[in-house]
Amino acid sequence: NWNMKNFINDQVELIRNQVGDKKVLLALSGGVDSSVVAALLIKAIGKQLVCVHVNHGLMRKGESEDVIEVFRNQLDANLVYVDAVDRFLGKLEGVSEPEEKRKIIGAEFIRVFEEEARKLDGIEFLAQGTIYPDIIESGTKTAKVVKSHHNVGGLPEDLQFQLVEPLYQLFKDEVRACGEELGLPHDMVYRQPFPGPGLGVRCLGAITRERLTALREADAILREEFAKNGLDKKVWQYFTVIPDFKSVGVKNNARCYEYPIILRAVNTIDAMTASIEQIEWPILLKITDRILNEVPNVNRVCYDMTPKPCGTIEWE
Ligand code: XMP
Repeated sequence: NWNMKNFINDQVELIRNQVGDKKVLLALSGGVDSSVVAALLIKAIGKQLVCVHVNHGLMRKGESEDVIEVFRNQLDANLVYVDAVDRFLGKLEGVSEPEEKRKIIGAEFIRVFEEEARKLDGIEFLAQGTIYPDIIESGTKTAKVVKSHHNVGGLPEDLQFQLVEPLYQLFKDEVRACGEELGLPHDMVYRQPFPGPGLGVRCLGAITRERLTALREADAILREEFAKNGLDKKVWQYFTVIPDFKSVGVKNNARCYEYPIILRAVNTIDAMTASIEQIEWPILLKITDRILNEVPNVNRVCYDMTPKPCGTIEWE
């Protein structure tokens, strides 16, 4: 009979048979799929798994720290932490076109990952958090590319690995259940979707450190207030966006010229269409008040009322 415990035990055995005493490499973003694959492989082969976490400077507040805490400190994993913040932000300097930004982030990610892979000896396998819907999508969809999504594909010819993809039969809810069964923190397993290019596509136009910092702090406030009000369990995706223009305002009886923050909260089944969450006014007012008081360089907060279509969920 099929249950999660049996699934895990079966996979542990299959992974051990496939891998033997060889090493396995994994790009661990901290997202649901890569985290669950990591936990499953740690159970199966312990330190034969080498997790590489690339901090591209576009992570949310506390995200890289959480990955280190859970995987290195709690699960005693073999974790390589790569601080690539300056590198990514350097490549992105002055680049304002959304697709170009996405391509730079995707390509740079592969380059950083490739460099780390070359430093490690005797790796024969690459683990990936491929899940069943990924296979269906790439197999049947010839949909027009609205935005180029990124993953770890595209490594050079001489750096090809055998793939380990233990979750390929699972749907998202089963992946989450698997993660919980493996003892991952609830927050990590049930977190909202986060795009590969991260805050890079929410810091509109050419990214600056100043706006990126404001965006990250505002996003942390939004998430905190959503969690306090139970909206984190109800709303599919919620985040902040910062445009690359300023508006005039007044603070402490003086004129100020600062950035707005845009709030977005949407519900969807498949991310192809989405409707906005009708957040209660008191919650919106509280979030607005906190952002205006706590986040430097921000003097205005707006709520994005746009469904998909015609707005996409992300702004870039
Ligand atoms: P859009 O903006 O196209 O987004 O309506 C639909 C969903 O996809 C997420 N998204 C991404 N996910 N890599 C990802 O893994 C990406 O490059 C990417 N771009 C958008 C977006 O957050 C939303 O959930």
